[in-house]
Amino acid sequence: MGAWATGNPSRGNPGIGNGRPNFNLGSIWAQTRAVHIKGTRVNYNMPAQRMQEQPLLHLQEVSKLYSGETPFLALDRISIEIKKGELVSIVGPSGSGKSTLLHMLGCLDMPTGGEIFVEGKAVSKMSDDAVADLRRDTIGFVFQEFNLAPTLSTFANVELPLMIRGVPKETRREIVERNLAAVGMSDKAHNLPSQLSGGQKQRVAIARALANSPKLILADEPTGNLDSKSSAEVMSHILQLHKKLGITVILVTHDHALAEKTDRIIRIMDGKIESDTRKKHAGKNTG
Ligand SMILES: Nc1ncnc2c1ncn2[C@@H]1O[C@H](COP(=O)(O)OP(=O)(O)OP(=O)(O)O)[C@@H](O)[C@H]1O
Ligand SMILES: [Mg+2]
Repeated sequence: MGAWATGNPSRGNPGIGNGRPNFNLGSIWAQTRAVHIKGTRVNYNMPAQRMQEQPLLHLQEVSKLYSGETPFLALDRISIEIKKGELVSIVGPSGSGKSTLLHMLGCLDMPTGGEIFVEGKAVSKMSDDAVADLRRDTIGFVFQEFNLAPTLSTFANVELPLMIRGVPKETRREIVERNLAAVGMSDKAHNLPSQLSGGQKQRVAIARALANSPKLILADEPTGNLDSKSSAEVMSHILQLHKKLGITVILVTHDHALAEKTDRIIRIMDGKIESDTRKKHAGKNTG
């Protein structure tokens, strides 16, 4: 992959400029682009609204107040943008609001203040069905506890979201086989979760998260239940999905070494962003 490749040029690019990065390039080639029409080079002025690509996710002053006997403000006016193709980790002490934030980013739970925009669309203005469709079609979730169906084989666990979507059998088989191969689990296709190690279970969970070709993988402590060897293996698969498929990845972790492997680290403290740092060359996915 070239220095500017983003992995999946067919996804999210506006057509002109394919092969160039999806990231917001500001002034580099926002104003005028050259296109070829019947072999003739023509300068093309980008309409203003197309000049800046929408962030994949935008949280605007998002708060979450858990109500109950002792109400608790778990997120306090958090504003962040996540661009397509980013590899982000969320770190912070236990109870600081990392999982709550991840749930907001994944539209698994609604904020009590502020607004979440997914590709420019305000989630609060969508119907419940539209939010459920958005989650299913855009986001793959990976959790610390794997959440595999215990009575289903590896193959059937990965197949399940495709069945729910009504994908035909032969296509399902192709997708499941491809996703299991991507995480090195083809040889355990017929095992039940109880016949797999922790790291293997998590790799199945990642293959399942890939079923609907998500734009975004959200992972909450994906290596939290694993020993260091399995943890490194699972992490290397997640990094490969980012590099090879250009999938945006946001992961919550306690593991500093793991966070250091990502391009951007958002540090949460008491429901607020304490810092948000990018590596110097983040965004130039060097595959
Ligand atoms: N359903 C709930 N009702 C009330 N309070 C909650 C609820 N869920 C979470 N909290 C509180 O909100 C705060 C943030 O919780 P969250 O699960 O987001 O933390 P975290 O940073 O993911 O922690 P950990 O690293 O331990 O997983 C905590 O103080 C927690 O007790
Ligand atoms: Mg948590």
